[in-house]
Amino acid sequence: MERLDKILASQGVGTRSEVRKMIWAGRVTVDGEICRSIDRRLEPSEHEIAVGGDPVCYRKYLYIMMNKPDGAVSASNDSHVQTVVDLLPPSLRRKGLFPVGRLDKDTTGLLIITDDGAFAHSVTSPGKKVFKTYRATLDGALTEEDIKYLSDGAVIDGGEQCLPAQVAVLDAENFVYEIKIREGKYHQIKRMAQSVGHRVIALERTAVGALRLDSALERGEARELTERERTLPLTN
Ligand code: URA
Repeated sequence: MERLDKILASQGVGTRSEVRKMIWAGRVTVDGEICRSIDRRLEPSEHEIAVGGDPVCYRKYLYIMMNKPDGAVSASNDSHVQTVVDLLPPSLRRKGLFPVGRLDKDTTGLLIITDDGAFAHSVTSPGKKVFKTYRATLDGALTEEDIKYLSDGAVIDGGEQCLPAQVAVLDAENFVYEIKIREGKYHQIKRMAQSVGHRVIALERTAVGALRLDSALERGEARELTERERTLPLTN
């Protein structure tokens, strides 16, 4: 059981003081009855709460898929630069949201944003070995030996040993490759490309585990994961 003002604030309806004002003003109903007590305790999933007549669809946690654009930083808040959380539409905003893992500022594509720490851990924890799939455009062609080197586990600058990656040619003429990695070292794909003498021109993440980027999402757009997507196997 939780307090009404806390429930509404947790759902992004407003700050705690804003929602209190809404409750006192009689704008909030519980099961169709106006409720003016901010400290009314209830189990949110068992009641219909509405604000100004609009139902509040209670979700304990939010799970969001974003098609990250170039230029946004993978962080919750930064007073100087635009973050992925700043890009969320008002309907998906609430306190406590953070990106699951990091993509470089110039990397685009699939980014999960949530406020569920356990879920985030299940994706990012090195022990879980979740495959992340990238579409990498390089400045030149990989040779068979390069692909074997990356597939066996490249040694990147500073002597760090990578786990074996999966590399497939997507568009040989334009040097586009699909690269799957099971870890998240700093600038990993870029450093793997460097280890075979190449530079990454463009990098897009297309999948995390079995969760694929929705091609209908434009860069910068976000939507909630469906129940099916949220429960897809992350390890494969
Ligand atoms: N590898 C990189 O180099 N950058 C990313 O953003 C993700 C993986």
